[in-house]
Parts: sequence; C-alpha cells; structure tokens
Amino acid sequence: MGTWVSSSIHLVLILISVLHPANGARHPKPAIRVGAGFGSGGCDLFQGSWVVDPFYPPYNNATCPFIEKEFNCQKNGRPDQNYLSYRWKPLDCDLPRFDGLGFLRRFQGKSIMFVGDSLSRDQWQSLTCLLYTAAPNLHYNLTRVGMISTFTIMEYGINVLLDRNIWDYIQVGNQVLKDMDRMVAFERALGTWGGWVDNHIDPSKTRVFFQGISPNHYNGSDWNEPKANTCQGETTPVQGSTYPGQYPPAVDVVKRALSKIENPVTLLDITTLSLLRKDGHPSIYGMGGASGLDCTHWCIAGVPDAWNQILYYLIAIS
Ligand SMILES: *[C@@H]1O[C@H](CO)[C@@H](O)[C@H](O)[C@H]1NC(C)=O
Ligand SMILES: *[C@@H]1O[C@H](CO)[C@@H](O)[C@H](O)[C@H]1NC(C)=O
Ligand SMILES: *[C@@H]1O[C@H](CO)[C@@H](O)[C@H](O)[C@H]1NC(C)=O
Repeated sequence: MGTWVSSSIHLVLILISVLHPANGARHPKPAIRVGAGFGSGGCDLFQGSWVVDPFYPPYNNATCPFIEKEFNCQKNGRPDQNYLSYRWKPLDCDLPRFDGLGFLRRFQGKSIMFVGDSLSRDQWQSLTCLLYTAAPNLHYNLTRVGMISTFTIMEYGINVLLDRNIWDYIQVGNQVLKDMDRMVAFERALGTWGGWVDNHIDPSKTRVFFQGISPNHYNGSDWNEPKANTCQGETTPVQGSTYPGQYPPAVDVVKRALSKIENPVTLLDITTLSLLRKDGHPSIYGMGGASGLDCTHWCIAGVPDAWNQILYYLIAIS
C-alpha cells in the first residue's frame, strides 16, 4: 500500500504548451494520438531500449548550476555515473538529439508551461538545463511567485514555467474529501480536465500534451530481481525493450480519459521507457539523503531528458 500511495500521489501530470505558432486551422477531431506510429515513417518513439552513448550526459551538475537538491544526485554523493550515459533508442528509428539552440530560435518569445506535481518539476528542471546549456554564455532569470516558477532565457525571451501543485484534499462536486480511491479520483479529475481542454483551449494557438504516467521502482520482483527491495543500488537499466513487471494501473485510466477529449491532446507515453530505468532514481541521493529513499523521482541529468527529447521532436519536427 505504501508504494501504491506514493505512486498515486504523483499521478496528475499535465503539460500544457503554448508554443505552437498560430496557424488558424482547427484540427480535425477526435485527434488524440496515443501510442504507436507518430514518429517519422511510422516509428513508435515509445518502444525501444536504452543504449550507451559516449556523448552523454548532455549536461551535468557543473554545467547546469541550478539543479534543485532533490534531483541533484551527483552533488548529493551518488557514487556511480554509468546511469548518466544512456540514450533512449526507439526500435525502428533514431531520435534526433535535443537541439537546444534550434529550440531557442524556433520558440523565441514564447512560453511553455508545465502544470502538475513534483514529477512535472522533474521534467521542467530537465528542460531548463537542456536549454541553458545549449549555447555558452546564455543568461537566465529564475523567479518564483507563489506556486509559479518561471525560468527565462534572457537572450531569447523564452519562458519555461512550472505550476506546482500539492494535493491536500479532493473535491468531488460540492463534497470535499480528505481521501478516496485514488484511481477513481484520477479518472474524475481527468474528465474535468478534459472538459476544460475542450472548452478553453484554442488548438490553433496552444498545443496540449499529457505527461504520461511516470513509474516508480520499489519492488525488485517487478524487474526479476526479487532480492532487490527497491531501486537502491541499481546502476543499469533493464536490458532490452520489455519490462517484466506490471504497469501502473493509472496508464489505462489515462488512455481512457484522453480518448474522450475532443481537442487534440498528445500523450507523452513515457511509461515503458521509464519503467526500464530502475537505475534512474535518486534513491538515497535525493532530498532526504541517506535516511530518505526516493524511487519515484528521477536524477537530473537523466530520464526526463529523454522525455523532453521526445517532446521537442513532437513539437518541432513531426
Ligand atoms: C558535481 O558533482 C561532483 C560529483 O560528481 C561534485 O564533486 C561537485 O562538487 C559537484 N559540483 C557542483 C557545482 O555541484
Ligand atoms: C527577473 O525577473 C524578475 C521578475 O519578473 C524581475 O523583477 C527581474 O528584474 C528580472 N531580472 C533580470 C536580471 O532581468
Ligand atoms: C513485491 O512483489 C511481489 C510479487 O508481486 C510480492 O509477492 C511481494 O509481496 C512484493 N513485496 C513488497 C515488499 O511489497
């Protein structure tokens, strides 16, 4: 139950981009794109494996100076570094490298906003590092007002925003509850959110992505290492492209809920690729240090860089 709860707290992960140049045309509907077949030539970007790349990581704790303690595994004393050298390789194609300079030029003066919880912060942090380290001598401004953090690359006027959310209560209609079945709550919440997307988002101005379910690793039986209690001490990804264990139940909830939305919403279906990265979590090199154990979030640099690489590909290239 403990594990399940900690995974459930991190479910509502929503990513909204207001990046897309206006084109005036309304998209045909229904336009949800889930799963296979939207890379070039029908390549499924979300099926693949992790391969060692001598040019990885794209940045580190020294070149990206503002990594929050929670994700800064190297600074927090994580002794191994191999986990930094893996690149996501789709089965049938190569994902282009994250082109930070291309991103900055293309989206000059625009904003991207992450709305969600601490896993959105993970992805937001990765994107800020990927952009800041794209060119030497860029200047940034990082401000926080209330729950909104804004990271600006001054030279390009690009804002990468994060709306942090912490859930204390659940409201269903007029009822306020301390807790309820999390999957039921999640599906209701996504229904509400879908209605908001349909009523308030102009798809000619804004592109909406949904950050898929980010999995955790608290039980070694899931990856055929029953002796491994948690992710602690894991230093390599699961080999190959299939995860032996179960998928988080929220994955199906997301796919069902997104299919009911009429406006185009792209699912960033990062569950499988992240499941393979039992080595990518802070474990005891996160916020709580040796007394904490975090197999939910991800070290930065790390797995969220691949999420952003795919996000950029979907926004800019395809
Ligand atoms: C980065 O991490 C290394 C360990 O890999 C550590 O020695 C160094 O102090 C860190 N530097 C910064 C700026 O965080
Ligand atoms: C950074 O942003 C804040 C808030 O918008 C602003 O007050 C401040 O002047 C900015 N800093 C720089 C160096 O532009
Ligand atoms: C891990 O999963 C296995 C198989 O599903 C289960 O039997 C075991 O109780 C789980 N261990 C913990 C600590 O939850």
